[in-house]
Amino acid sequence: MEASQHQHKKAPPPKPRSDERPCENVLYARSCDEAVKIYKAYGAVEISTPATDEFMQFASTLYMKMLSMCPVQEEGNRGELRHCVNAPGNVNDDAFYNLFSYIMEPGRILYNLLKAVEPTLKLEKLGGDVVLPGAPNSDATKWHRDWELSNLIVAVSVFIHPITVVDAPLWIATPDKQVCCVGPPGRLLVRDVATWHRGSEHLGATARALPAYLFTSAKARREHKLDPVRTRTQWNWNPHLREFVHERDAPSDTASFRIAIGWDEQDETQQSDG
Ligand SMILES: [Fe+2]
Repeated sequence: MEASQHQHKKAPPPKPRSDERPCENVLYARSCDEAVKIYKAYGAVEISTPATDEFMQFASTLYMKMLSMCPVQEEGNRGELRHCVNAPGNVNDDAFYNLFSYIMEPGRILYNLLKAVEPTLKLEKLGGDVVLPGAPNSDATKWHRDWELSNLIVAVSVFIHPITVVDAPLWIATPDKQVCCVGPPGRLLVRDVATWHRGSEHLGATARALPAYLFTSAKARREHKLDPVRTRTQWNWNPHLREFVHERDAPSDTASFRIAIGWDEQDETQQSDG
């Protein structure tokens, strides 16, 4: 009976128009649980943080800061018109710090995602890259891994302006797809730096800046001697950031700093990576 009813239907259900299809980006997650699953499956996940007026203010300030770090007339350090702006001094820079504090606020996905992915993560480096209009392909646009071992270093890239396919987006490889990481301001790309990825040429008209915050696991710090950030004292960090900075932070210009390093390494040796 049911079969004959189906046979006599006058019209098939309407197919969705092509522009109404759900997001096909396999890396995009709308919840923390979904984000953890995607990250564990692919070594990368995209999430969103609210692009409020406050976010956009921080984003705009950091955009200007990152552009000011690129000498226009010189060859970029990542290829022609392509600059990496990782620098130790970034940890003392309000533009990098304010955006970081915003995206890490509890109640947003990133904070809990990082805790779930690797509970021992601590901030190692602040920077990112700037790609200027006309930047051609370079070594940075070849498929590569920043680090060959997984589960040691996590990078969080923050979209501070819209990034489209012509704005030198990052591409990430999953086992069966090549995903172009485009999106609006507030989009975050969280990736294990061992995941296959590449940059791309800049065919657009405005400079593309993509700040990145790098975290190391206890294992990375212990076995690969990757130092966490130590230059900003712990009591200067907002409370929700403190567990992501080194426990025994100390001013780098004091004698106790060297002693602290010895203590820290002993402590971390006792930690388990599971
Ligand atoms: Fe890379």
